[in-house]
Amino acid sequence: MTQQSYPATRLRRTRVSAWSRALHRETVLTPADLIWPLFVCDGEGEQPVASLPGVSRWGVAQIVERAREARDLGIPCVALFPNTPPDRRSAHGEEAANRDNLMCRAIRAIKDALGDEIGVLTDVALDPYTDHGQDGLLDDHGYVANDATVDALVAQALNQADAGADIVAPSDMMDGRIGAIRAGLEGAGHHNVQIMSYAAKYASAFYGPFRDAVGSSGLLKGDKKSYQMDPANGSEALREVAIDIAEGADSVMVKPGLAYLDIVARVGEAFDVPVFAYSVSGEYAMIEAAAAAGAGNRDALVLETLMAFKRAGCSGVLTYHAAHAARLLHG
Ligand code: PBG
Repeated sequence: MTQQSYPATRLRRTRVSAWSRALHRETVLTPADLIWPLFVCDGEGEQPVASLPGVSRWGVAQIVERAREARDLGIPCVALFPNTPPDRRSAHGEEAANRDNLMCRAIRAIKDALGDEIGVLTDVALDPYTDHGQDGLLDDHGYVANDATVDALVAQALNQADAGADIVAPSDMMDGRIGAIRAGLEGAGHHNVQIMSYAAKYASAFYGPFRDAVGSSGLLKGDKKSYQMDPANGSEALREVAIDIAEGADSVMVKPGLAYLDIVARVGEAFDVPVFAYSVSGEYAMIEAAAAAGAGNRDALVLETLMAFKRAGCSGVLTYHAAHAARLLHG
């Protein structure tokens, strides 16, 4: 008699039916996992960003409409980035501390209209305000001076918090800025303004379209490698995160996202801190280009990549696809 041979374990068994796949699904993606980055421009209306098909800069009144749209879709938070008019950019980026700058007007307009119905996250870095496109202040040799920049970032973050920002997100990668900003916020009575630190931010080729959107790409000379991390480094990201937590960060971010999911997973394993990832402009552009070229189904690519962030351990994802993804998730 021959014994029938069969696999002791058939992992395919639970995959046969949709109900069973739903029952065994390990990771859930919902609109509440998404943060929607929005670009603000001076004046009224909409300016499409050529290198980001489907993404526009919006005037302050229109930004409020986008925030309302996010609220209605169940997206808990929007992230704001200004396209500062050229005549307001300068070597020291003083416009960042102007209480009536584009950013502050957008924050106030959203908060006046929606209050606590949506969170407003603001980027802390000088690149949308400098006439050289670097994130900080340059010394005589063109090096981004750390400590002088930190002072300017504290002023910028306080300005945003005064205008009503709920989360300030330093994206500059200066050393010591989280502690300085936390102290500044506490001193000003902003005890409940959160800090989401861009803790592990890499000097990446994926930021190109963003620099078009905020208008810094034509200005930027050189690169940001003396402050943003080397893409070759992983362990160093854990040091960055440890320091930012010790200095008072409420949550940390890994950026870019897709090419750095190993960093997300390592940070998640090493620390009990909420981890976010920024699926940056070049990632969005890559998916849009692939879909336009017929190399993949756009909606499926969007949802699969966002699910990957959750599976890697993210609490949430900043993505230009946020509104589209939320609509897909609502069915
Ligand atoms: C500014 C900043 C950048 C991004 C977010 N904040 C650009 C940069 O560091 O040059 C990139 C986001 C994106 O590409 O979507 N410091």
